[in-house]
Amino acid sequence: MSSIQKVGVVGCGLMGRGIAQVCAAAGYDTVVREVNQDLLDTGLGAIRKQLDRAVEKGKLEAEVRDATLGKLSGTVSLEDLADCDLIIEAIVENIEAKKDLLGVLDRQSPEHTIFSSNTSSLTVTEMGAATDRPDRFVGLHFFNPVPVMKLVEVVRTGSTSQDTFDRAFEFAKSLGKVPVACRDNSGFIVNRLLVPYMLDAIRGFEEGIGSIEDIDTAMKLGTGYPMGPFVLGDFVGLDTLYYIAEIMFDEYREKRFAPPPLLKRMYLAGYHGRKTGKGFYDYSGDEPVVSDFVL
Ligand code: CAA
Ligand code: NAD
Repeated sequence: MSSIQKVGVVGCGLMGRGIAQVCAAAGYDTVVREVNQDLLDTGLGAIRKQLDRAVEKGKLEAEVRDATLGKLSGTVSLEDLADCDLIIEAIVENIEAKKDLLGVLDRQSPEHTIFSSNTSSLTVTEMGAATDRPDRFVGLHFFNPVPVMKLVEVVRTGSTSQDTFDRAFEFAKSLGKVPVACRDNSGFIVNRLLVPYMLDAIRGFEEGIGSIEDIDTAMKLGTGYPMGPFVLGDFVGLDTLYYIAEIMFDEYREKRFAPPPLLKRMYLAGYHGRKTGKGFYDYSGDEPVVSDFVL
């Protein structure tokens, strides 16, 4: 049984809020940190809304919701994470931002604290090497939406100790997730296969194989995927997908990982998907419609 009792989650965006929710629901004292109060309130509000909806649907007891919220607190101060047994970093997919953050956390955290990153594509080894605890550094890669998706990729670097890996693996199980072991290759298992597929859908659209809606419908109904590639891109966030593609292209130097010109332009124009209200689809009406950028 893991000795982890208090978990610090850094970032309360799409992923951080889901990770904080599942940690609190599993009974861990959980503190989540954002850069400012507005973003923190948005993230915590989304957690409350999701739990309330589950109660309304009769899928969750009101007492369980209250117990989860009772285990969860939010902060804008990194110092409030100084006594955590496990830190899960879930901030923007940018190596410099992550290394800056990890340096501060490393200096203030007790020796036993395990550090982990939810990175989609960055090198876990590089993050571990930016701290004085590379042996206590591991990748914990959750999937969106975290409360629903069962998988966690547990990423071991050449420096990760067996004890750290085992405890991270057990921790993922204690959240009710199914962990799989991965080596520290950019994209691990899932994104190594999924990201080229999503990028290829965009290239296919650029080449005229079909409309956005028809490609989505074809992949959904023709393969049984729950979402077509453009709906999924908007769901992941086109800013995040763009960062991931740049990082994976840099790692593998293969065209299939390169961000297509359209993705780059949508990123630059602020069409980041659901989180900004517009991506491949426009979410401002009752039902999503194809957005003006790709008409
Ligand atoms: N947060 C929490 N719960 C959510 C949710 C969210 N954002 N969205 C949906 N749910 C829950 C609903 O509450 C519902 O729960 P119940 O069955 O208990 O009522 C359940 O999920 C199903 O939801 P819906 O009926 O509304 O919708 P759906 O059947 O279409 O399922 C979905 C929604 C689970 C998101 C499904 O469409 C799906 O699996 N999509 C694919 C998601 C995917 O591929 N994720 C991986 C992305 S890649 C990644 O994460 C890695 C990376 O590094 C980029
Ligand atoms: P997001 O943009 O929704 O959220 C990131 C949040 O981190 C923002 O709210 C930002 O304000 C906050 N932040 C930035 N610097 C911070 C700091 N120093 N301290 C606290 N908060 C800080 O992004 P996301 O989709 O949640 O992605 C977060 C991480 O998870 C990335 O590494 C991403 O690659 C990875 N990931 C994303 C997905 C996905 O589907 N979006 C899936 C798995 C993993």
